[in-house]
Amino acid sequence: MIKYFRSSVFLLSTIPFIFITYKIFLNKLGPEPIKEITHHTGEWTLLFLIFTLAMSPLKQITNMNIWISVRRMLGLFAFFYASLHMLTYVGLDYRFDMNEISKDILTKRFIFVGFAAWLLLVPLALTSSKKMMSVLKQYWKKLHRLIYLIALLGVTHFIWLVKRDVTEPLIYLLIIILLLGFRIKFQKTS
Ligand code: HEM
Repeated sequence: MIKYFRSSVFLLSTIPFIFITYKIFLNKLGPEPIKEITHHTGEWTLLFLIFTLAMSPLKQITNMNIWISVRRMLGLFAFFYASLHMLTYVGLDYRFDMNEISKDILTKRFIFVGFAAWLLLVPLALTSSKKMMSVLKQYWKKLHRLIYLIALLGVTHFIWLVKRDVTEPLIYLLIIILLLGFRIKFQKTS
C-alpha cells in the first residue's frame, strides 16, 4: 500500500515539470517565456513547501503514518523546483552574469530573501537521506525545522515581488501560519 502511495505521489510530483517541459518544446510559453517559467517554478516551489509542511498535521489528524512516508520526497521536490526556478533566473534571465546577479541580490530585497530561502534548502536536501538522519541524530530534526523558516522566506519573497494584488501570497502566508500554529500546538500537547 505504502509502496503504491509513494510511487503515485512521485509520479504526480513530476507533472508540473513535464507540463513546463512540454510547453517549452512546443513553444507554448507565450510572449514572455522566461517570466512564464519563473512563474510556474516559483509557484510550485511554494506549493511543495506547503505540501511538505502539511504531512505531520495530516498524520496527527488521520492517525496514519503513510503521510510521513512521502514527506522527505515532497521536500526534495520543493528543492528540485526551487533549483529550476533559481536556475531560470541565473541562467536564462541573467546568462550567468555574476556581477549583475550579486548586484540584484544586494539591492532587491525580494531576490535577497528568495536566494536565502534557496540557500537554506541546500543543507536540508544534502542531509535528507536515512544515513544522514542516523549520523545527525537529534540535530537532524532541529536542522529540518528550518523548512518553516524557508517557507516564510519564500512567501515573503512572493509578497515583496508582487506589485499590486497581494491576495495570492497572503493566502499562502495564512496557510503556512496555520501549519506552523498546528505544529506549535501539537508540540505543546504531546
Ligand atoms: C524557496 C525559494 C523560493 C520560492 C518559494 C520562490 C517563489 C516564487 C514565487 C511564488 C514567485 C511568483 C510567481 C508568480 O509570478 O506568480 C516567484 C517569482 C520570482 N522569483 Fe522566486 N522563489 C524562491 C527563490 C528564488 C530565488 C533563489 C530567486 C533568484 C535568485 C528567485 C527569483 C524570482 C524572480 C526573478 C521572480 C519573478 C519576479 C517578477 O515576476 O518580476 N526566486 N518566486
